[in-house]
Amino acid sequence: MRRVLLVGGTDSSGGAGLARDVATVTGMAAHPCIAVTAVTAQDDAGVQAVHPVPPDVVAAQIRAAGRVDAIKLGMLVNADTIGAVAAALPRAPLVIDPVLRSSSGAALLDDAGLGALLSLLVPRATVLTPNLPELAAIADRDGAPDHSAARRALFARGCKALLVKGGHAPDRDFCEDRLYLPDGTMRRFRGPRLAGTLRGTGCQLGSALAVALAGGAALPDAVARARDGVARRFATQA
Ligand SMILES: Nc1ncnc2c1ncn2[C@@H]1O[C@H](COP(=O)(O)OP(=O)(O)OP(=O)(O)O)[C@@H](O)[C@H]1O
Ligand SMILES: [Mg+2]
Repeated sequence: MRRVLLVGGTDSSGGAGLARDVATVTGMAAHPCIAVTAVTAQDDAGVQAVHPVPPDVVAAQIRAAGRVDAIKLGMLVNADTIGAVAAALPRAPLVIDPVLRSSSGAALLDDAGLGALLSLLVPRATVLTPNLPELAAIADRDGAPDHSAARRALFARGCKALLVKGGHAPDRDFCEDRLYLPDGTMRRFRGPRLAGTLRGTGCQLGSALAVALAGGAALPDAVARARDGVARRFATQA
């Protein structure tokens, strides 16, 4: 069974965060290894409490996970935790979901944390999966005047692919994710905008990408498969 390392925060209601990551990985018949960066109390209404795990304990969890076939990083709390994660991370295909805010809008990474993410982890990313507000925040932090300049800056840092998620464009009747590569190519993945409100679609997408990459899938196939999983969950609202 493929082993996927999930690094992120807990979620007490089971909708997002590590709870969603674990459900996704086990649902795809892979084995989840877990490193908790923060214990959180959160539900659909918001984030009520965040208790960061000490960075050395996060690093110890990663080392104890042993050999893994892919890694997915979610909530990383702050620059100290990011430094510890970067030092402990094994070599494997790496999906980074740059979690800056919860689905409900609460800030989950400060400015120094975003700087550390960009300089220490993004250079190692097989794929970085920002939603539209996250790409805007990254552009701001990198001093990039627009999204195109922000993408170039991310590739210049060494990021190997960028999947820009289109969930946050509610005026459209479709949902389009775009996969950008450093060679300037872009591929669109478009489907209908499905009804209902689900938390943790971003977590699910990133974890499913990691499972597919762990199995040796090419990135476009991994994206298609991960999107199918999200659409299936919309159908059942699970
Ligand atoms: N209403 C919807 N219908 C169909 N697909 C959706 C919908 N909302 C989001 N998605 C898909 O879910 C995936 C996650 O995208 P989204 O933009 O919601 O990420 P996110 O903002 O990181 O999510 P989260 O709020 O969980 O952090 C993408 O593949 C996106 O296209
Ligand atoms: Mg997200």
